[in-house]
Amino acid sequence: MSAKTPGTMAAAGGPIVLQIFRGDTNSGAEQRFEVPAVEGMVVLDAVHYVQANFANDLACRWNCKAAKCGSCSAEINGRPRLMCKTRVDEFGDQENHVRPMRAFPLIKDLVTDVSWNYEVNKQIPGFTPAANEPVPYRMLPEDTERVYEYRKCIECFLCQDVCHVLRNHDDKSAYYGPRYMVRIAALEMHPLDTRKRTGLLHGKAGIGMCNITKCCQEVCPEHIKITDNAIIPLKERTATDVYDPVARIARKLLPARAGQLSESPDGLAGGSPPQRFAVKDVVRLKSRGRRFARVASVLPDGKLEVWVLHMNGTVQHWAGPKIVRTSDVTNNYGPLDEVGIGGKLVEQYITEDHAAEQHG
Ligand code: SF4
Ligand code: SF4
Ligand code: FES
Repeated sequence: MSAKTPGTMAAAGGPIVLQIFRGDTNSGAEQRFEVPAVEGMVVLDAVHYVQANFANDLACRWNCKAAKCGSCSAEINGRPRLMCKTRVDEFGDQENHVRPMRAFPLIKDLVTDVSWNYEVNKQIPGFTPAANEPVPYRMLPEDTERVYEYRKCIECFLCQDVCHVLRNHDDKSAYYGPRYMVRIAALEMHPLDTRKRTGLLHGKAGIGMCNITKCCQEVCPEHIKITDNAIIPLKERTATDVYDPVARIARKLLPARAGQLSESPDGLAGGSPPQRFAVKDVVRLKSRGRRFARVASVLPDGKLEVWVLHMNGTVQHWAGPKIVRTSDVTNNYGPLDEVGIGGKLVEQYITEDHAAEQHG
């Protein structure tokens, strides 16, 4: 099928050739269209041209045309992309294949049923500050910046589409998918959130299914470091809470902090008050037989509350919480969100701190 009229678009070169999937749950195939090229044209422009001139019943979901609503997700030349953010001149003279996301059930043409994602979203316990948390909330800038990355998500579900775990499990029962690892990370690393979600991650959310291929991270239009900054830290936190024998013993022996909430085995509701270490796992340190520490919380006055593991031969015990100054940490080691899991920050800081205590 060829363009009958360029309509309101001014032709700036040869036609753009699109192979657009047309069909529904019963059957479907690609259909060829030629669209006059316009400088700066994106795939969504070309699809709209096809709708206006050749196929009025072509189904396509979009809203903002500004890469912010997450509606126009599709697979363009085999890669999950936003149609409104993908320029046609990126592909030169080749034919451009535009198909619906394949991880979700097809409704019609380029539109898929993504409602499963919203059902998953409902299963994640929301933001839960301590009951006695003073309002208005006070947080340190470095803590809010760390969470900000996760909150850039526009729910385009391109990461869900590319994830091979979701593609390979049609009933989607094995894994919540990378978008929801981002949401859980936003909650788990919120400086004022008190709820534990590691039981959920280990269980129904299926974080163990992710094998860190980073495909999701590569397609995210908001450039969220999904695996580096969300999934890997959550895997760390889950492994510690679920498998770390020291942490399990500590949870049993140490008293709970006021106002903190735990999760039931399915991770969805309350339970007995926990000993919670991993509020700020960005500065959590894994030990190789040496002293290590975890930040328990950031206090309103900007200090960190830290638990320290003492090891005397084979005997281990947690001491704390002891208070360290955030400014000392950031002055010596830079912004907390650049430190990352396994960084030496706390180990070195605590070591210096204890040395100071011994000489003080
Ligand atoms: S890194 Fe994990 S979540 Fe991302 S695409 Fe790979 S398996 Fe899926
Ligand atoms: S994390 Fe990125 S790719 Fe995934 S839904 Fe959010 S914006 Fe889209
Ligand atoms: S139309 Fe809103 S992201 Fe493309």
